[in-house]
Amino acid sequence: MIPFKDRMADSQRMQRAIQMKWILMTYAKRFIHLPHHSSMEIRKVGIIGAGTMGASIAELFAYNGFDVVMKDQNMDLARSGYSRIQKILSDMKRINDERPEKEISRIEGYGLKLTEEQKEKIRTANRSNVDVDIILKRVKITDQYSDLSGCDLIIEAAFENQEVKNGIFSDISDLSEKAIVASNTSSLSITEMAGHLKRPEQALILHFFNPPYLLPLVEVVPSVYTSDEVRDLAFSLISHMKNHRENMVPVLVKEREGFIVNRLLIPLINSASELLDAGIASAKDIDIAMKKGAGFPMGPLELADMIGIDVVVDVMEVLEKAFGEMYKPSVILRRMREAKQLGRKTKIGFYKY
Ligand SMILES: NC(=O)c1ccc[n+]([C@@H]2O[C@H](COP(=O)([O-])OP(=O)(O)OC[C@H]3O[C@@H](n4cnc5c(N)ncnc54)[C@H](O)[C@@H]3O)[C@@H](O)[C@H]2O)c1
Repeated sequence: MIPFKDRMADSQRMQRAIQMKWILMTYAKRFIHLPHHSSMEIRKVGIIGAGTMGASIAELFAYNGFDVVMKDQNMDLARSGYSRIQKILSDMKRINDERPEKEISRIEGYGLKLTEEQKEKIRTANRSNVDVDIILKRVKITDQYSDLSGCDLIIEAAFENQEVKNGIFSDISDLSEKAIVASNTSSLSITEMAGHLKRPEQALILHFFNPPYLLPLVEVVPSVYTSDEVRDLAFSLISHMKNHRENMVPVLVKEREGFIVNRLLIPLINSASELLDAGIASAKDIDIAMKKGAGFPMGPLELADMIGIDVVVDVMEVLEKAFGEMYKPSVILRRMREAKQLGRKTKIGFYKY
């Protein structure tokens, strides 16, 4: 067995290495250069849409040291997105603050008794890096596109509707002269959106997962126009970022409806809702079955409530159009959307919140 003091030294070395990597990554990303504009760095990020995803993507970039401007249709919506960012940060800070004591209990749970000095070292190594005030100061809100003019990267996270997104891309067409323009769409055509930009080769999909402050995956999806430089820069940018749990992970995907995750996951949610509707099992038991029998971290119905029932139905409709009948949204999902039982965001969905 490895002596305890050696294990402590290993764990401290690992902590220091992680801290150093984080510092290097934080500064490295400041020097990522945009193609075609060798004097430029990605410093300022614009977010269009301050809803569930827009606000949390804004938080992610601010946490990674970027200046962020978040735009919604009016200032009330932008302010409510800002409150969402405040809430994410205070939750993450609380979790971070609790981490050292949890780590001490975990080690002592093996029957080891730590000295005060060892505990202090653990507290120092696990000190929270969530400085709410500093991170919040990086975020500005607006209801004007003109405030996005200094951005090097703009991420659109508005409603999942092709016309809405095409309209937004037309409105920011000129900004593509300087900025990479990404959409967070779950299922719509980036090629169609990009056609509305002055420089279509600057656009691609960066598909973040909900919630991005905990889920590291980003599907990077180029359109038929996207330049290799924009694709590579976006990929590299994501791989140099981290969320509140781990390093972000990009995967490259061809532009086909649903990409990887939604093409597999949303039909599963649809089937789970059909099981519920047919009275095969309760929502709770369907979720328990998939967690305990299939190793899912969340059940499909809990997940649907988190994603939003409207988003789930929107994605199913796109998949149905692309791949046919087997992707038809279930009756229960469509009824829930009509009744505005959209999950967590309306405080009622498959569960009550
Ligand atoms: N919710 C998820 O789990 C999830 C996950 C991955 C991707 N997405 C995608 O992210 C996008 C946003 O989804 P969401 O769940 O955050 O939606 P949401 O309804 O919570 O937020 C959308 C926001 O966009 C704003 N908006 C609409 N038009 C705008 C405009 N012209 N300018 C500025 N703001 C505008 C709305 O006012 C709203 O605040 C969608 O494309 C969705 O498919 C969602």
